[in-house]
Amino acid sequence: MLKHNENSKKILISGVKPTGRVHIGNYFGAMRQFVDLQNKFESYIFIADYHAMTTVQNREELKQGIIDVALDYLAIGLDPKKVTLFKQSDIPQVAELGWIFNCITTMPYLMRAHAYKDAEAKNKEINVGLFDYPLLMASDILIQDADIVPVGQDQKQHVEYARDTAQKFNRIFGETFKMPEPFILPNVETVIGIDGRKMSKSYDNVIPLFATDEEIKKAVMKIPTDSKGVAESKNPEESTIFAIHKLLLEGDALKKLEAKYKNGGMGYKEAKELLIADLSAFIKPMREKRQMLAQDMDTVLDILRDGGKRVSMNAEKKMKEVREKVGVEIY
Ligand code: ADP
Ligand code: TRP
Repeated sequence: MLKHNENSKKILISGVKPTGRVHIGNYFGAMRQFVDLQNKFESYIFIADYHAMTTVQNREELKQGIIDVALDYLAIGLDPKKVTLFKQSDIPQVAELGWIFNCITTMPYLMRAHAYKDAEAKNKEINVGLFDYPLLMASDILIQDADIVPVGQDQKQHVEYARDTAQKFNRIFGETFKMPEPFILPNVETVIGIDGRKMSKSYDNVIPLFATDEEIKKAVMKIPTDSKGVAESKNPEESTIFAIHKLLLEGDALKKLEAKYKNGGMGYKEAKELLIADLSAFIKPMREKRQMLAQDMDTVLDILRDGGKRVSMNAEKKMKEVREKVGVEIY
């Protein structure tokens, strides 16, 4: 196992909030990129359970959410030999550093955060945790001396908060934190849901990533189509069935399917059946792996525990330096 600073690979860190059942939009838009990146970087992927507490305040729900994220990521192919998978709350130093960051940050600066402004615009009740979210995230990143932070576009501002906070701390207390770079996931296109809008759990239009064959069939059958007959030529770019199907195909297979739409002779019923077959073939191995993992929870929990132990050594080392620099370390 590679240890901190023992290799020349850059350190990558990213957190995932445990917020319910994942769908193929999450997979193609975000999750699978971690699997690709695990070979290129020394990767730390963690379950952001304390961040989730800004919205989830239910013991069973939070516990289940944490376990689900671990199972999801292991099932899609995160390899615990390559990636350190852990949960945020196993590194209490993160919250400790968050407090120190609170003390060097002004309210107006945090008020500029998109997430806060959105919540305020919607007249939501905003807890202090939500307001402070960017600084806990800055701690996650900076405490591990991370070089790169792969995130979706929506999280870019949060990485900028981490950079600003590192700079501010370094200016006040001396050079301590490394400057992390955001890594906006490439080719992240928006996956369309079964109603043609963006796939999102809030629209109830998803195909769950670990769906059963029954669920796949039910979801695909709901996709609305126009009234073109079997013989008629169809424009694949206008079809939600095709928009989802093309995620699963490339090269010749994709060209062939495209031709089937354009040439006529394929009805929407057949197009849906083809999609169901390919979705089932794509999902089945991951679903089965997830089921196997779930039957061996001891191993899954050991992976998280070991991951936490490994990164908490880095975190404690960094915090010692921070405590000394701010002046609370007197022994
Ligand atoms: P949801 O909209 O279902 O609540 P989240 O907001 O929890 O999804 O998103 C989790 C991750 O998945 C984010 O990185 C987000 O960019 C990505 N994601 C969510 N929906 C899609 C989609 N339809 N297409 C591409 N990526 C998506
Ligand atoms: N804020 C991120 C999200 O909502 C999750 C997260 C927490 C994170 N801490 C992080 C991501 C550190 C990258 C690095 O998706």
